[in-house]
Amino acid sequence: MTTLPDFSKAMISVDFLGLQLRNAILVGSGLLTDQERNIRRLIQAGAGGVVTKTIHPSPPRGLDERVFRIPTGMLNSTTYSKRSVEEWIEMLRHFASDRLPVIASIHADKPADLADLASQIAQSGVRALELGISCINEEDGIEDTPQRIFAYTVAVRKATTLPFLVKLGIGEGLEPRLYAAIAGGANAITLSDTIPAATISPVSKQPELGGVFGYSGPALRPLVVAAIWRLRQKGHKIPISGSGGVTTGLDVHEYLNAGANTVQVYTALHTRMIDTLQDIVSSYRGFSSFHAGSEQIVADNKTEA
Ligand SMILES: Cc1cc2nc3c(=O)[nH]c(=O)nc-3n(C[C@H](O)[C@H](O)[C@H](O)COP(=O)(O)O)c2cc1C
Repeated sequence: MTTLPDFSKAMISVDFLGLQLRNAILVGSGLLTDQERNIRRLIQAGAGGVVTKTIHPSPPRGLDERVFRIPTGMLNSTTYSKRSVEEWIEMLRHFASDRLPVIASIHADKPADLADLASQIAQSGVRALELGISCINEEDGIEDTPQRIFAYTVAVRKATTLPFLVKLGIGEGLEPRLYAAIAGGANAITLSDTIPAATISPVSKQPELGGVFGYSGPALRPLVVAAIWRLRQKGHKIPISGSGGVTTGLDVHEYLNAGANTVQVYTALHTRMIDTLQDIVSSYRGFSSFHAGSEQIVADNKTEA
């Protein structure tokens, strides 16, 4: 008996950074991707790949990192994984020996330190990296200039042959920052990291979490979609992983139609992590097979309800 190939699966698999992903949906970096067990469960539940919580050579100490839910998403004051580099290398070795599509997110205080970290992490057998260099939750915030992005990117490019994404935030000067990442040797970018936001407590009259921290969630999506669309209109060809505000499979299609090559989902998974991911993946697959053969899927938000 002849077995027909499974076209529905073949159509949505993507080659991204040399990784053969079964679909374009990646779980973005965050608290949920800080444990081996969660990462395995997310892949088993249907994620095309998972980006780890950002690994840093000097893990943060103390317990003052928090998340604060608001009706339109989440504010968080987290920075980097509290696990040591050695612990991560061990975990990444396990993923590599099982050929799991895991991307290691990394950052350090200086470009030379990030280059060292990249070469150490590469020894685990991991197949791709994401430079989590645009986190706004550091003590004094960051000024994300093209010079800074170039310095980090080129240092890592010299240290490893692994493909890597550079994670950028939307906002002022995005195009010069993108040029800096490309000039430094990035294979792809992730757009966007969280953006600066605050909500003021009516009781204390002070910002919740004590200051301005990263916003994530649905309101980010149209902003990032617009930024990606504009970059494509201007002719930028670099692969882009869209990130911000995905809650449904239709949102994933919206990003792909705007010009993203893969799409990351994070905050939505803070509610019913596995069930939510499965819903997103299956509705994404549903729209993919429904529209098979048509060139573009028109994201019609009315159909989301
Ligand atoms: C609690 C929390 C922790 C996060 N930690 C990281 C991190 O360690 N590294 C990183 O690059 N992005 C981190 N992010 C950003 C997400 O990966 C993602 O880019 C962003 O939240 C936008 O996508 P979303 O709206 O789907 O969450 C974090 C986000 C949240 C909410």
